[in-house]
Amino acid sequence: SPLHPFLLKLPKCEHHIHLEGALTPQLVFHLANKNAIPLPNLPHYQSPEALAARYEAFDSLDDFLNIHYANMSVLITENDFYELAWSYFRAAYADGVHHAEVFFDPQSHTSRSIPIASVINGYKRALDRAGSELGVTSRLIMCFLRHLPVPSAHATFDSATEFIHDGTIHAVGLDSSEVGFPPELFTDVFRKAKDAGLQRTAHGGEEGDISYIKGALDSLKVDRIDHGIRLIEDRELMKAIAAKGTLLTICPLSNVYLRTTKSIASLPLREFLEAGVQFSLHSDDPAYFGGGILNNYCAVEEAFGFNIDEWKTIAIAGVQGSWIDKARKKALV
Ligand code: ADE
Ligand code: ZN
Repeated sequence: SPLHPFLLKLPKCEHHIHLEGALTPQLVFHLANKNAIPLPNLPHYQSPEALAARYEAFDSLDDFLNIHYANMSVLITENDFYELAWSYFRAAYADGVHHAEVFFDPQSHTSRSIPIASVINGYKRALDRAGSELGVTSRLIMCFLRHLPVPSAHATFDSATEFIHDGTIHAVGLDSSEVGFPPELFTDVFRKAKDAGLQRTAHGGEEGDISYIKGALDSLKVDRIDHGIRLIEDRELMKAIAAKGTLLTICPLSNVYLRTTKSIASLPLREFLEAGVQFSLHSDDPAYFGGGILNNYCAVEEAFGFNIDEWKTIAIAGVQGSWIDKARKKALV
């Protein structure tokens, strides 16, 4: 695209990237070997290339999640988490990311008996290095897996108390398999998070219908919706969300890979812009869905041909929707 140099330079903020989703096939095999973890005896685990090829054939969110969680079994030591996150930050910096609010899934590790401190301390080391060496500021968002029992979310929250109080964890999120796991289940744990001074976001309206967006807003008191593309199905709620300024963190290539949209061109981005719905664009899981944030910006540019003013509107929504103070926002726009 002729706008590529402009899109590269545009100061981008991340709001929707799962650190575990930055685990590339190469790193899966490297860590499996280092940690002596056997990979499943399946054709797509015969080589990194075979694994990467399998990613071209996801047929749903759950199909992806099964492989995503299986791959995470290679992450064992604090340093593994550090290496994973640091590899993400180097790539994000190269893509023109200035500020990154990143998700992680502690339960996918604690369920394998990895201490939550190994996970968080490893990630924190990478976040600190990104700040000091690259000038990339960041926030850490702890997500609950909605397919697991609600008491597991409470136990996870309680086990992270020290990292909540010292500011390492800035916010909570809600991810994993959506349909059948409504947001209302997590009302109490999100209330605890709010009372502890944490910000809140939740995946909603990715595969699930509009009730998953409404429930996240009304019961979880989120100020963002991750994905939210099915908001287009309710024009009244769309108006309300535009008026409130709730940010949707949209992941175009992810939506294509997981077949929640036919194509990028059929995402309702023009409708959202016209209705004043704030949204930003992200990769979701860069190792799985065709690359990082810049590839998503470029794919949207190819499909929609947005002009420079429209791109500025999108980038500014990302800055304004970030969980940072006014001075940092001013420095970013
Ligand atoms: N975890 C990683 N990527 C996800 C997605 N797109 N939806 C729900 N949970 C996820
Ligand atoms: Zn996601």
